[in-house]
Amino acid sequence: MNVVLLGPPGAGKGTQAVRLSKTAGLLHLSSGDILRAERRAETELGRKAQEYMDSGALVPDDLILSMMVQHIGREEAKNGFLLDGFPRTVAQAQGLDVRLAKENRKLDAVVCIEIDDATVSKRLTGRWSCPNCARVFHEEFSPPKAAGVCDACGQPLSRRNDDEPAVVAERLRHYHELTKPLVAYYRDEGILRPVSGRGSVDEVFEAIRKACPGL
Ligand code: AP5
Repeated sequence: MNVVLLGPPGAGKGTQAVRLSKTAGLLHLSSGDILRAERRAETELGRKAQEYMDSGALVPDDLILSMMVQHIGREEAKNGFLLDGFPRTVAQAQGLDVRLAKENRKLDAVVCIEIDDATVSKRLTGRWSCPNCARVFHEEFSPPKAAGVCDACGQPLSRRNDDEPAVVAERLRHYHELTKPLVAYYRDEGILRPVSGRGSVDEVFEAIRKACPGL
């Protein structure tokens, strides 16, 4: 099964993707996590992406498409993948469709986690992430067992630079302008599965599985 998790920044895509990829046995591919790993490794792609990410803008489509196509082509993705944060523009979605069609593959479902901007801001200002294994926590809604330490790998947690309120506002602006048109794009393809992101992590998880049998 090949699935996309769509939704605004802070909707809970990463949180849900970690759980869903385990239960459904899919390869979790987060474009944001891959870009942050490229930055840590100081690759050319990481350096090119840095300025866009820090300002809350989208990284250019050509860079993202070639990066994600490479990961979707990995052997571990052959049994199914769960895309988180990609595609994010109509051009990326079209590029993905073309690439999958060439390999006789296709997307089976696009789960759109719906949430309002005020909730997004609250979630992102309280988020802590693990720079080592990319697990995410929230100081109020899903705190780590020991303050400031990742439950999964024991590394110190940190805040993301792009969770500053001014950058969050910019990310939301780009979401509404460039990413939201994908809702209509995938509705037209007949594979959109809208889900409310307002409940607890467990409630949203169950809602996604109900909307998308097989996950
Ligand atoms: P990326 O890392 O993809 O950021 P994002 O899409 O903005 O998503 P987030 O990671 O901020 O949020 P999320 O939906 O995963 O929420 P999370 O589960 O963490 O991208 C970063 C940047 O990279 C972009 O701005 C862009 O520059 C670039 N980029 C990436 N992909 C690109 C692309 N395709 N094209 C161009 N540029 C690209 O949850 C958030 C918080 O809420 C956490 O603290 C969590 O614990 C908490 N939480 C989650 N669910 C719940 C719940 N149900 N109730 C209460 N709290 C919850």
